[in-house]
Amino acid sequence: MTGVLLPLPFIVMDTRKQTLKEDLARALQEARERTRWLLESVSDEDLYAQHDEIMSPLIWDYGHIANYEELWLLKEAFGKELSEQALFEIYDATITPRSERPSLEMLDRASADRYLDTIREQVLKELQKADLESGDALLKDGFVYNMVIQHEAQHNETMLQTLQLKKGRGYEPPEQRQLPAGNPPEEEMVFVPGGRFVMGTDDEELALDNEGPAYEVHLPGFYIDTTPVTNGSYLEFVEDGGYEKRELWDPVGWDWIRENGISAPKHWYQKEPHDWWTERFGFDEPLDAGAPVVHVSWYEADAYTRWAGKRLPTEAEWEKAASWDPKTETKRLLYPWGEEQPTPEKANLDQLAFRPAQVGAYPAGASAYGVLGMIGDVWEWTASDFAAYPGFESFPYREYSEVFFGPDYKVLRGGSWATRPCAIRNTFRNWDYPIRRQLFVGFRCAR
Ligand code: AVJ
Ligand code: FE
Repeated sequence: MTGVLLPLPFIVMDTRKQTLKEDLARALQEARERTRWLLESVSDEDLYAQHDEIMSPLIWDYGHIANYEELWLLKEAFGKELSEQALFEIYDATITPRSERPSLEMLDRASADRYLDTIREQVLKELQKADLESGDALLKDGFVYNMVIQHEAQHNETMLQTLQLKKGRGYEPPEQRQLPAGNPPEEEMVFVPGGRFVMGTDDEELALDNEGPAYEVHLPGFYIDTTPVTNGSYLEFVEDGGYEKRELWDPVGWDWIRENGISAPKHWYQKEPHDWWTERFGFDEPLDAGAPVVHVSWYEADAYTRWAGKRLPTEAEWEKAASWDPKTETKRLLYPWGEEQPTPEKANLDQLAFRPAQVGAYPAGASAYGVLGMIGDVWEWTASDFAAYPGFESFPYREYSEVFFGPDYKVLRGGSWATRPCAIRNTFRNWDYPIRRQLFVGFRCAR
């Protein structure tokens, strides 16, 4: 016996399998801890109320998180379910629009707590037995677990949007992370030379259906802002009468601001003429000129770019500036800085700061072209409608993306301070109506 013929590859594979399951179990657990941490300081009254008709009551999001987990990690993946049909209907986002959700007979806080725990216990048991190397695309490499983990993270951000819209007593999170100081780069824009790049991804482990398939795109050269537009710059547009200059506005956006009396970003107000403040989670603060503007609609972003003699980047331009490495002609699939996981030195993600950082605060997070702040801080509106990439296939369900494709929705990229790291990457696509301002969204310009 020499020992040389030990079946090492099998041992390696076996540990990998085991590690994947452990990683998924840990990520599920960690997602849940965050959900509960966010809701810990929310009163029952605030949990049950509907704070804005475009949002669900928080208690709906909470129960829905468990129901989605039951649907995908028990029912669809293993043919098991614990709940009655009624629960699947109450928490099905496609059956009841947000505005009507307060009338649903949702689980109360204590029952929802138990529901989340019961489902999770069963999910972890099934995970132990699961074959994550099967040909089943749902289970393969843990895709469906990652989908559910990202779903919980997405609803965390939705819940934070609701808390930002909430009136009355402010939301006080149990703790708040300090942010690095801003350090705006000297160059306002960088040039991205024309040529080929790869848009989207073929990843089948983390990516959601609308991110693929990957395909080659040839773009003409363009300039893109090195940072998102700041409150300071946006204020110049406001003070210059930007909201009164019809020629700057998309006609639909113009009618919308007139009908709704909109003359500044959501949550901005003046204490005295020209003394601008903003309200964040129910607390007043002076407008920070160095931080990205946030809570603007696509129409406002679009009007600003025209005022500045620029335009919004297309989705492809945004993704190229974030992900393409022109030296190696390869794509950085996950983040502008490469494939290493985000840290507080590279990006403002993961909610704990409860605000965007000033621009230029993350030189270590620069893309290959030297573009800053593309991941985290604020979502960024793009010029593009939400559409399928060539060869798109809906998976695992049409209601994630496909039913939203079309001219009604604009694409947002890059995630915000309220986005959890697992739910953002260079190829990730978000979308919303061009009038929406509840998102933690700003923009940058192109030319
Ligand atoms: C991807 C953020 C547009 O929250 O409406 C949540 C994600 N899908 N539950 C949303 C989603 C199902 C979705 N967005
Ligand atoms: Fe959902």
